[in-house]
Amino acid sequence: MAARGSFDTRLGFILAAAGSAVGLGNIWKFPFEVGDGGGAAFVIVYLAFCFILCYPVLVTEIAIGRKTQRNPVGAFKALGYKKWSIIGYMGLASGVLILSFYNVVAAWSFGYVIEMIQGNFGIGEDFGVFITDALKVGLYGVIFMSTTAFIVSNGVSGGIERAAKILMPSLIFIILCLLAYALTLPNAMEGVKFYLVPDFSKLTGDVIYSALGQAFFSLSLGMGALITYGSYVSRDQNIVSAGAMITLADVGIAFIAGFMLFPIVFSQGIEPSGGAGLIFITLPGVFETLGPNMGVAVGVLFFLLLTFAALTSTVSLLEVPTAYVVDEHGVERKKAVWGLAFVIFLIGIPSLLSNGTTEWLTSFIQLPGHDSPISFMDFVEDLAADSFLPVGGFLIAVFAAWVWRKENLNEELAYGDPSIRGGILLKYINFAISYICPLMLGLIAVVTIL
Ligand code: PFF
Repeated sequence: MAARGSFDTRLGFILAAAGSAVGLGNIWKFPFEVGDGGGAAFVIVYLAFCFILCYPVLVTEIAIGRKTQRNPVGAFKALGYKKWSIIGYMGLASGVLILSFYNVVAAWSFGYVIEMIQGNFGIGEDFGVFITDALKVGLYGVIFMSTTAFIVSNGVSGGIERAAKILMPSLIFIILCLLAYALTLPNAMEGVKFYLVPDFSKLTGDVIYSALGQAFFSLSLGMGALITYGSYVSRDQNIVSAGAMITLADVGIAFIAGFMLFPIVFSQGIEPSGGAGLIFITLPGVFETLGPNMGVAVGVLFFLLLTFAALTSTVSLLEVPTAYVVDEHGVERKKAVWGLAFVIFLIGIPSLLSNGTTEWLTSFIQLPGHDSPISFMDFVEDLAADSFLPVGGFLIAVFAAWVWRKENLNEELAYGDPSIRGGILLKYINFAISYICPLMLGLIAVVTIL
């Protein structure tokens, strides 16, 4: 078997994993889910899910990866539980499906950088036309997928880690600049209030369910992305504290994204529950009001931020099937990466065409709970992000707590910082994956199926 790569430094691993977590989910999806879910009430439920439910699953995934030094399918086999590798296969399917539509939204974002550079603020009003232009979006999609593949093909430390070390600090710098600017706008405080004052009457079952899906999606959980990244981490690093930093970075950036966005939206007196279009439709018009120079600067920065965030996530999405093909089938990394990127791009074509280009893919399926038929892309997203990921998280928690056993997990979690043993945090993680995660995730799964 070919030698496996590894992260060079602890910071590199944390940045890469945080890069996987911080993505379109934080900056594109999170603010509009907050808008739809009644502001702060959604934020509170989301934060609770992240820390209470997701953090324990996150460290468990990393521990399984590091213990076995394998991809998500091989990991369960290496531990001696071949049947449980179904979790890994499900993870592969989720990763491929998520990357297939994620690349389309990333292509929009990248396309918007180009439009903003040209000062085309009208693109917001023309969003409907822009996303229907399958050739144009397809071309941006090819460029984005190729960039992802290029990074992944350069390996773990030379590609993924190096890119994260450049992109993540840039992203933090850009978001802080935009935040400082947003807070100086007139009416900014109205936006902050909407964001921070909870309206619990808006908390329906649906909102809670999407907060859970969002928490899993945002932390890249339930599909083995962190098993894969964990497999490149050395034993002198402690997973419990690294996991806490990854969770905090992800939650922190989603939180800041809202702080930046709602003041901008409210400063223009716009309705915050603008759905997925909040960013692509509303914002360009808002940037236009800032005047030609400032508008272009802020517009380019904003969509660059979104594009960078997407890139570190697509890298991790592509790394999961790559690690599988390299580990389990002995394929050379470069071949595996480019082959997979090509196939996943093809799988994404129906999503690309489902935004108005082709009628039957646009109104693809009528699901219960939706007023009208949803598009193929929304269907894939609902299926992979809101259903497969929580189910994957449920199975990973049950496996680690009851099959692999907590002693083995704890041994892995204590490396790099033996003082963790006997501490309250480790006790909590054990309790959460044994009881809280299986019960809550199981309950939600049952409710969803019924
Ligand atoms: N966490 C990413 C986001 O919030 O956009 C999406 C994602 C990346 C999900 C990687 C799953 C994954 F494995």
